[in-house]
Amino acid sequence: MAEHPYIFTNSQEVSELERLQAIEQIFDSATHKQIQATGISQNWCCLEVGAGAGSIMRWMSSIVGEGGKVVAVDLDTRFIENIHLANVEILKADIRQLQLEENSFDLIHARYVLIHISDYESTLSKMIALLKPGGWIVIEEPDFSAARAIAGSEAACQAVNRVNRAIFKTFKSRKMDYDLGIKLPALFQKLGLELQSVENNSPLSNGSSGVARMMKMSALQLLEKYIATGEATQKDIEQYCLFAEDQTAWAIYYATVGVTAQKVIS
Ligand SMILES: C[S@@+](CC[C@H](N)C(=O)[O-])C[C@H]1O[C@@H](n2cnc3c(N)ncnc32)[C@H](O)[C@@H]1O
Repeated sequence: MAEHPYIFTNSQEVSELERLQAIEQIFDSATHKQIQATGISQNWCCLEVGAGAGSIMRWMSSIVGEGGKVVAVDLDTRFIENIHLANVEILKADIRQLQLEENSFDLIHARYVLIHISDYESTLSKMIALLKPGGWIVIEEPDFSAARAIAGSEAACQAVNRVNRAIFKTFKSRKMDYDLGIKLPALFQKLGLELQSVENNSPLSNGSSGVARMMKMSALQLLEKYIATGEATQKDIEQYCLFAEDQTAWAIYYATVGVTAQKVIS
């Protein structure tokens, strides 16, 4: 069966950049901590998969210095192609088809990328093959099974939960694993990696917070897909957007599981 295109492919350039930058603002500090724990340092060779708007790519570039290298891969490089850094190589490619040298990277990182790939297990195996023995892999993926409205009017909470069901159904219809995050630790073990840490970050967020506004942006971009599931109406999505601005309305929009591991030296 033909693969679905990346779910945000038809998003408007400005709103997609805004959404990617919102993700960076909310999650980069947690990502920095997880990557720093690997010991990333000068001269490392790193692969950033699904670089998005490029903040982690730029940050890695500043750490590995001129003796190091960052390869940044994305299906859509429109937000990073004008960033020119001597130690960064930008590749417009699908990670599933990309041919890179095996055993050549000290560190591979991806955040919110494998969720978009139905054959994520073989993609992850391919990424592991690119790691040097003893190299590090840091993967952060969402777990939408954690999503639920917590506080707000009864009607608003019900509308939010209907939109959550529409999100699950949209993902499922595209063969995206909506709770991939919680499956990562066992998958890493199955693929022979040596686990170093597992973080499960499930923020309880109120309206107007970074997470709430970023999820509102996603809902507006994916509105037609959510309505097409039959689980949520246009009115539900309008309520979801109001809820995401209401400081007295609380929800877990989703959790993020971050897993760090090393490739075993055989
Ligand atoms: C939700 S965004 C996350 C961006 C960035 N990793 C971050 O967390 O700030 C997902 C990114 O992965 C890219 N992507 C999705 N599928 C991909 C694939 N098969 N190969 C390469 N990049 C992919 C998208 O183009 C997008 O830039």
